[in-house]
Amino acid sequence: MNILGIESSCDETSVAVLSDGELKSNIISSQIFHKNYGGVVPELSSRAHLQIVAPLVKKALEESQLELKSIDLVAATAGPGLIGALLVGLTYGKSLAYSLNKPFVPVNHIEGHIYSPYLMPEKPELPYLCIVVSGGHTLLLIVKSETEIIKLGTTIDDAAGEAFDKVSKMLGLGYPGGPKIQVAAEKGDRKKILFPVANTKNPYDFSFSGLKTSVLRHLQNNYGTDYNVPEDDIPDIAASFQHAVVRAIGNRVKKALKEYSVNTISLAGGVAANKAIRNEIVKIARGKGLKVVIPDMEYCGDNAAMIALRGEMVHNSGKKFDFNFTAYPSISENIFI
Ligand code: KG4
Ligand code: ZN
Repeated sequence: MNILGIESSCDETSVAVLSDGELKSNIISSQIFHKNYGGVVPELSSRAHLQIVAPLVKKALEESQLELKSIDLVAATAGPGLIGALLVGLTYGKSLAYSLNKPFVPVNHIEGHIYSPYLMPEKPELPYLCIVVSGGHTLLLIVKSETEIIKLGTTIDDAAGEAFDKVSKMLGLGYPGGPKIQVAAEKGDRKKILFPVANTKNPYDFSFSGLKTSVLRHLQNNYGTDYNVPEDDIPDIAASFQHAVVRAIGNRVKKALKEYSVNTISLAGGVAANKAIRNEIVKIARGKGLKVVIPDMEYCGDNAAMIALRGEMVHNSGKKFDFNFTAYPSISENIFI
């Protein structure tokens, strides 16, 4: 079966082709111009998706050496995400499926991230503990099967990626903040400043807003209200902040492993590209003799390969969708179809 996947929930337009389980193409086009505005501008994002989605579909088919008429199933992200951005990919995907007289599957973006470890040659063994850390979401889950997921915790305020982006902005490092903080942190001492890790009522929930505020307080206390952080001090602050995020995730993972029996640990979402977080998860998994599956970088950030893969799973479960299915901006709806 040839599946065409389309992703357009935020600032990446991506098109992938999955043929009988083999990924033939996964083209990702990032809207880098948002860095000029310090964050994603929704309207500009929608327009950019609109301009590029059709050429990307053409390119992905060429790369896969397939003609459009050989596509058996179209899957596109339906939510959560920026509503205008979602509508572009979803409407394009639905129209394509309709014109080809082929089935269409609307995919939940978070589910795409959750099952993205299956894109790796070494598959996770069920049940697996999955940490989804992205720009918009932070989730700790037990994945029991393709249809059953236990949600242990989520963020009660900022998402992990959002915290990276905001702290990066405070340090004058720009957007997206995650990779910039990681690079700066490599030269810093992570023990220099002890930023707090918040305790939450549900011990599996995350809270990054207090951490962000304590970085802000540190900057104001040391460099004044209109702080301008000296370049030499940035690495230690970045490393100490990153270490607090690592501790927040690591503590919750260790606690979950005491309570739940799993075979694999997986890390997914854009923040899973972070080396310090990856290393911590690998360390915990090794210590417990568990398998660890972390997707390659191109499957961590937003990508259509995970959408095609999840689209196939949902289709194989027998679910059918009509072309009236519309986009949804928030995670609360249609999660875990
Ligand atoms: O999954 P994703 O591509 O988009 C969403 O669905 O949100 O995640 C984007 C987020 C951004 O906040 C970005 O700063 C963060 O992932 N990110 C990182 C790294 N690379 C990307 N955060 C920490 N370290 C990184 N190396
Ligand atoms: Zn994402």
